[in-house]
Amino acid sequence: MQVVICRDYAEMSSRAAHFISERVMRKPHMVLGLATGETPVGMYAELSRLHREEGLDFSGLTTFNLDEYCGLAHDDPRSYHTFMADNLFSHVNLNPLLVHIPDGAALDADGECARYEALIEAAGGIDLQVLGIGMNGHIGFNEPGTDRNSTTHVVQLARQTVEVNQAKGGYDTLPGSAMSMGIGTIMKAREIVLLASGDGKADIIKNALEGPVTPKTPASILQTHPSVVCFLDAAAASRLSKR
Ligand code: GLP
Repeated sequence: MQVVICRDYAEMSSRAAHFISERVMRKPHMVLGLATGETPVGMYAELSRLHREEGLDFSGLTTFNLDEYCGLAHDDPRSYHTFMADNLFSHVNLNPLLVHIPDGAALDADGECARYEALIEAAGGIDLQVLGIGMNGHIGFNEPGTDRNSTTHVVQLARQTVEVNQAKGGYDTLPGSAMSMGIGTIMKAREIVLLASGDGKADIIKNALEGPVTPKTPASILQTHPSVVCFLDAAAASRLSKR
């Protein structure tokens, strides 16, 4: 695992975006896994700028988002469909036919998860997966206790996750369940980029990167992946002892 400690959020966002753009230029038809949350917003802004000002071409990419809330229409302002449209998709030249997010509104949620997993397989697997990290160490929406071999599945969200995400978005309510790539799905990605910023993430980053590998801290499994790069700002890295 490689850990890149950046001065601040802006540098973290820029370095992560340049890492991805280098991969895209090297393999224009790559399969890119995408994440939501506040953390990657700056990285998406920089990727959008690289497209606008430097011609970074997204047209050959296939993308798969990690997760989506169950029961939300695509145009619901709380949905990850809306988040991705606002923060990336409307700013770059991705081919809409090659963009994938679990359909949270599907009536057969388990069937939708199986379909999603099969689509990832059919695309040849994920070349590079972007991850954030939840306050309890979740990756995607894989909450503590999730099986390390799990594939895309329906998740009952931890109360803390719903509360944190409600507060961040300023929402009165959020669904208590979601569809998420599994830990097994994520671990099959050939390369992984983990982003974390801010003081609030310092303890969980220390546990995930330097603590025991345990399902209690889902992100700790990344210690066993052969190719992970963590972009952290100084605050998120502040409790790492091996800095
Ligand atoms: C959500 C997403 C995760 C994300 C996490 C952290 O729960 N499902 O994929 O990593 O939030 O979000 P933030 O970056 O806002 O801290």
